[in-house]
Amino acid sequence: MEAFSQLVERAGLAFAQATTPAELEDAKAVFLGKSGELTAQMKLLGSLPVDEKKARGAEINAAKQQVETLLADRRQALAEAELALQLRAESLDVTLPGRRRGSGGLHPITRAMERIEAIFGSMGFDVADGPEIETDWFNFTALNTPADHPARSMHDTFYVEGGHVLRTHTSPMQIRYAVRHVKQHRHLLDAGLPMPEIRVIAPGRTYRVDSDATHSPMFHQFEGLWVGEAISFKDLKSVYLGFVRAFFESDDLRIRFRPSYFPFTEPSAEIDMMFGSGPMQGRWLEVSGSGQVHPQVIRNMGLDPERHIGFAFGSGIDRLAMLRYGVSDLRHFFDGDLRFLSQFK
Ligand code: PHE
Repeated sequence: MEAFSQLVERAGLAFAQATTPAELEDAKAVFLGKSGELTAQMKLLGSLPVDEKKARGAEINAAKQQVETLLADRRQALAEAELALQLRAESLDVTLPGRRRGSGGLHPITRAMERIEAIFGSMGFDVADGPEIETDWFNFTALNTPADHPARSMHDTFYVEGGHVLRTHTSPMQIRYAVRHVKQHRHLLDAGLPMPEIRVIAPGRTYRVDSDATHSPMFHQFEGLWVGEAISFKDLKSVYLGFVRAFFESDDLRIRFRPSYFPFTEPSAEIDMMFGSGPMQGRWLEVSGSGQVHPQVIRNMGLDPERHIGFAFGSGIDRLAMLRYGVSDLRHFFDGDLRFLSQFK
């Protein structure tokens, strides 16, 4: 007959082979269960003579205790293994470098606008803002633009519901700002007193049906307007030259006026600029339309052209930003590609 020590050994092996608590319970049943081996041994006790009974009973009890100890050890080992597994699965590597939140930056067009506002601000210009969906009156008619002017054609202008347009330039801001200014100072004009000069820039989005490497259907302009009682082209020249020199941080820069035509200025001129050094050196670059505000436009502002005179200009911000940052294709500004944009952080 098998010695109890061997039974204990078999139980130990069976427990060791169990890799889950369920398997361990099955192995336990084989030895300690109702019909397990040790239980069967106990049942046999009754049939033994009294003198053998005692010794045998003690042996069985000792074996049972050993098996129970082995079982308890294995239970604990399995529980520990499971805990270790769980800890490993949920572990944090505190030595990994953290994932930083990327720091954003302003869009180059926004940066250019802020520069423009700061520079003109330092020259005493107010900054104004107005609607991008404009009425025909402000975008065209008040600016002396006749009904048959080509700018009004569907090829050039985005028309929206209700006869409105997406403003094709920032020039409607000339009228909007001046009308407000004149209304505010009407009492002075009525009393024959001088009105504070109108001196404003109006940067913002503008729209035209146009799209290639140097034209986008949405682009940016800033309008400039200076109206008073004795404002002349020489003021325009000094303001604009001062502006480009500050914007490009270079005194080695010239501008010239080239005769042109706009319905709302007379005379009208394109402003070209030329760098005296650097990669763009020696080429005239067109940067702005400009001119003396047309008498009819002065009237539409609520002023008397016999008394009030001034100049206006409208410049492309995208163009200036391209030149300042050395960007070759306008579309980079509007693609939203982070490889491009993150260079301006
Ligand atoms: N509005 C004109 C344009 O978009 C520019 C301009 C503005 C010209 C003011 C003269 C005076 O081309």
